[in-house]
Amino acid sequence: MSRIAYVNGRYVPHAQAQVHVEDRGYQFSDGVYEVCEVSGGFIIDRTRHLDRLDRSLSELAMAWPVGRDALGRIMIEVTSRNRVRDGLVYLQVTRGVARRDHPFPPPGTPTALVVTAKSTDRRAFAEKAEKGVAVITVPDNRWDRVDIKTIGLLPNVLARQQARDSGAAEAWMVDEDGMVTEGAATNAWIVTMDNVLVTRPAENGILRGVTRATALEAAAKLGLAVEERGFTVAEAKAAREAFMTSATSQIMPVTSIDGAPVANGHPGETARQLGRAFFGAAEKIAVAGSLSLEKR
Ligand code: PDD
Repeated sequence: MSRIAYVNGRYVPHAQAQVHVEDRGYQFSDGVYEVCEVSGGFIIDRTRHLDRLDRSLSELAMAWPVGRDALGRIMIEVTSRNRVRDGLVYLQVTRGVARRDHPFPPPGTPTALVVTAKSTDRRAFAEKAEKGVAVITVPDNRWDRVDIKTIGLLPNVLARQQARDSGAAEAWMVDEDGMVTEGAATNAWIVTMDNVLVTRPAENGILRGVTRATALEAAAKLGLAVEERGFTVAEAKAAREAFMTSATSQIMPVTSIDGAPVANGHPGETARQLGRAFFGAAEKIAVAGSLSLEKR
């Protein structure tokens, strides 16, 4: 089955999906994005993702490309047209197409919207979660508005590549005070020896992860102790457990940091417990009820 992408009002074959050479996303990274998990035929936490998109857009004085409800429907439509049951739906909004010039284009220039969806291998993912993953640490050299989910991801790309080159799955970024901020594309957590979940507060130093927010709710439901505070690399290395969260990695145990095992080097019980509770706490939007699936 061929993949379908949504590009500025049209559903087109993925291979032919194109944007203009003067799209400001292409030239200036002048855009924002969201990635939602699709699990068992449900889009996970769409409301939280659209809330964060709204915040990213307003922080950058960028207009919604279509209404919020319409975008919600497009996400379902793209997921359904691509027959994605387990995978990801990606959306990107840029400040549109205009002759190259740094200041914003003339008022009324429409913002541009692309939505794609892809399936992911659930079994491979489960095997990875069963074993846990390695992370390395790198200096956090990003700008100070990482709370805005912009498509300007070069430091994150370089950090992830460095992780991959070292045989690790993620790079945890470390600020000038030696505190872990977050991963290149995940939020970072530890569990202390006295069983307290620790993750950095959602201020400007991190992206306000949707998975992080839902995991905090799941932790509250389970009655787990949580502290929203920074932690050092040394504290993480000495922790009972470590894990990372994102729409792409859910709640993924971290079993080594810079080559040193975390505790016994195996995934911990708290991450497992949270992983099991996660979907109960998350918002689930059914894809199967959408028109295009009913029609087929
Ligand atoms: N990344 N921190 C950063 C820098 C991220 O890019 C992401 C998400 C997260 C976790 O956020 P959430 O739980 O809302 O996915 C934290 C997405 C998945 C990506 O870039 O592919």
